[in-house]
Amino acid sequence: MKVLRTISEARAAVRAERAQDKTIAFVPTMGALHEGHRSLLRAGRNAGDVLVLSLFVNPMQFGPAEDLAGYPRPLERDLRMAEEEGVDIVFVPPPEEMFRPTAETFVDQKRLPNHLCGLSRPGHFRGVLTVVLKLFHIVAPDVAIFGEKDRQQLLVIRRMVEDLDLGVEIRSHPTVREPSGLARSSRNAYLSKAGRRAAPRLCKALLAGRRLLDRGVKDPAKIRSAMANIFKGEPLAEPDYIAVVDADTLEDLREIGDRAILALAVRVEKARLIDNLLWEAPARKPAARKAPASRGRRKPLS
Ligand code: PAJ
Repeated sequence: MKVLRTISEARAAVRAERAQDKTIAFVPTMGALHEGHRSLLRAGRNAGDVLVLSLFVNPMQFGPAEDLAGYPRPLERDLRMAEEEGVDIVFVPPPEEMFRPTAETFVDQKRLPNHLCGLSRPGHFRGVLTVVLKLFHIVAPDVAIFGEKDRQQLLVIRRMVEDLDLGVEIRSHPTVREPSGLARSSRNAYLSKAGRRAAPRLCKALLAGRRLLDRGVKDPAKIRSAMANIFKGEPLAEPDYIAVVDADTLEDLREIGDRAILALAVRVEKARLIDNLLWEAPARKPAARKAPASRGRRKPLS
């Protein structure tokens, strides 16, 4: 496994592989790798001949009052996991390699960032898009893999790839969860024992919303309120937003049709946690029609 710190080294390494007609699969991350990232790496291993992982805590996507300085950076552990998962090239640039203070060019998007996390994190998606575009130029992947846990990120990246004709295939990967239902996240490391007990409520809220959708409730306000109820009596979990939005545009829905995204961001102690689920009406999923008896039975969230 090659561990490379400069853009020119990373470019040269990928170029050498391409020269042998190999395809490149890419998993960009901010490190502090967990089972969610591991699962993306496994998907990446099967998606191309050469697997590239980037570990870069991107300063541009953090707001001034956010956790950039405290974001965990356990490099040796990360490299061990990368090795275990058969990564060929790890790109770990120092911040000054990726961002020069003189930079004047950034990637902005018109609509998708004006919803959900973009509202409480102004400039966040500009930072994500700019760094992902830079990484795509450096790594030149055929396929890149992103997690559905960050669904808004997935959507803005797909949009950028389409709008700018980047020619990278974007694959999404289901959210990996702890047995409690809590979505795996590098930020779970910020939680105390009490915080860990409170955090699975995010997933419980999504399940509560999904139950209503499955029963045919069409009013987003009812769904939001059922989700909000899950946080009553839990002072450690403070919702930032609880939303029922269009699966393509992320705009708030007035009435639910056959697809919707339930999404929420909740502050639990020092961590701002997010989670979401994409709901599709059973008619779109022929397999579900055969088993209407699933009512009341717990389906896992992916
Ligand atoms: P990071 O939070 O490290 O996540 C890297 C990738 O792992 C993202 O695609 C994210 O959606 C995915 N991921 C995180 N937790 C997951 C889980 N529990 N299940 C499945 N996938 C999960 O997202 C970023 O970094 C950055 O914004 C980045 C794209 C690297 C740009 O800086």
